[in-house]
Amino acid sequence: MIPLRLSEIARITGGEVHGGLGDAEPDPLVDGPVVTDSREAAPGSLYVARIGDEADGHQFVAAARSQGAVAALTSRPVPELPSVVVPDVQAAFVALAHALVERNPKVVVIGITGSSGKTGTKDLLWSVLARHGETVANVGSLNSEVGVPLTICRITPTTAYLVLEMGSRGAGHIEYLTRIAQPQIGVVLNVGTAHVGEFGSREAIGRAKAELVQDLPATGFAVLNADDPVVWAMAGQTRAHVIGVGESPGAAIRALDISLDEQGRASFTLASGQDTAAVALQLHGEHQVGNVLAVAAVALAVGMALGDVATALGEARPLSRWRMEVHERTDGVTIVNDAYNANPDSMLAALKALSAMSHGRRTWAVLGEMRELGHESAGEHEALGRLAIRLGVSRLVAVGEGTQPVDSGARDEGAGGPGDQESTWVADIDAAHELLRAHLAPGDVVLVKSSRDAGLRLLGDRLLGDHLLGDTGSEVLS
Ligand SMILES: Nc1ncnc2c1ncn2[C@@H]1O[C@H](COP(=O)(O)OP(=O)(O)OP(=O)(O)O)[C@@H](O)[C@H]1O
Ligand SMILES: [Mg+2]
Repeated sequence: MIPLRLSEIARITGGEVHGGLGDAEPDPLVDGPVVTDSREAAPGSLYVARIGDEADGHQFVAAARSQGAVAALTSRPVPELPSVVVPDVQAAFVALAHALVERNPKVVVIGITGSSGKTGTKDLLWSVLARHGETVANVGSLNSEVGVPLTICRITPTTAYLVLEMGSRGAGHIEYLTRIAQPQIGVVLNVGTAHVGEFGSREAIGRAKAELVQDLPATGFAVLNADDPVVWAMAGQTRAHVIGVGESPGAAIRALDISLDEQGRASFTLASGQDTAAVALQLHGEHQVGNVLAVAAVALAVGMALGDVATALGEARPLSRWRMEVHERTDGVTIVNDAYNANPDSMLAALKALSAMSHGRRTWAVLGEMRELGHESAGEHEALGRLAIRLGVSRLVAVGEGTQPVDSGARDEGAGGPGDQESTWVADIDAAHELLRAHLAPGDVVLVKSSRDAGLRLLGDRLLGDHLLGDTGSEVLS
């Protein structure tokens, strides 16, 4: 946080300062984290009291104070803390974040969007850039109209790089975020079918993601996936220098000679023009290569040397949970928990990784529902079942409401027939857990994946708990 007096926050937001209890400093210095969750408040914090769908943040001002918050941003006076009172807390929050980024004119803002892989790529970019200068990136997947200003408020006067994952659920969302902090570098990873239910079509998703590159400055960089036609078409919609990444001829940053080890980790030659460097990733799945190329493009654009970029990439480990998290149980079962979220593209990526990890081992794909697919849902689930069987999955377990088409697609593709591939549908996570506990054998590799709301990540955690705590462990954990 760049320290500010409450009176300055009032000036920035156009609000009015109201005193809190008699003992409070009337114009406190806010030099702790800006928070929207009172439980995250710390000494010096500014607590932003949002009114959400479920709760009114004004109820938690006292809680924020007890954690050390010195002031609040509110839409009505509160007795517990001095506050800046504004008509619209969200607008004021955004104005504050915007003002803070302007107080560090040297910071390079990097925006990342795409249908899949934003968080993983953001984590990776943080790992690489942090070696080159002070870097702030969003925590987890905080990529919305709340997460982005929260992240921006974490910059200091010496922050060199601000990495912002930018989510989009409709037209104008990314533009809203870029107006808070205008990126100099915009990365578009891919345009898939994630959230197609909300957008209507892949083209509409493409238009929404293009908002990231449309206002980049002429001195900036648009890092675009040259292998994704919808993304590559954005090259014509920006004044910035375009850096293509991928395997296509238009790509300036490429991966050559990709190979996967028995854990599905990619090694390849990273090429930038005539320069090359060897990279061996610790991240699982071939799909990481495209994300890594985008990271390399950004790092090279800000002046890092290719060799340093390659070293940093090779040392990077997953930072956010439930994304291709690979655990080896001591009974010889491997659990791949990729259940942070799911859409057809990330399902394909994960199933390919599972197949790369098989090496003659029995593979299980335990798949829950992909949400937000709108009218394409049933067809996409059926296609998923077919795909899993075509990619050689030994045992498919479709879990929960909405996944019956996965099972029927798998059967249509031959599961349960003369081959040794099988498919089962179970009603819920408990049933899936029971089935797996009864049938998993040493050497098996198990992929667990679903949309966030379908909750299979907890199943993945329970499968680990089983092993650590013995046979009754899962009851303890669940
Ligand atoms: N380039 C890619 N293509 C397909 N799937 C990918 C790619 N990169 C990552 N994934 C997979 O997509 C899933 C989501 O990854 P991640 O959380 O990084 O995406 P995200 O874009 O941040 O998602 P969200 O929109 O929920 O924030 C994970 O299962 C991950 O393994
Ligand atoms: Mg994310």
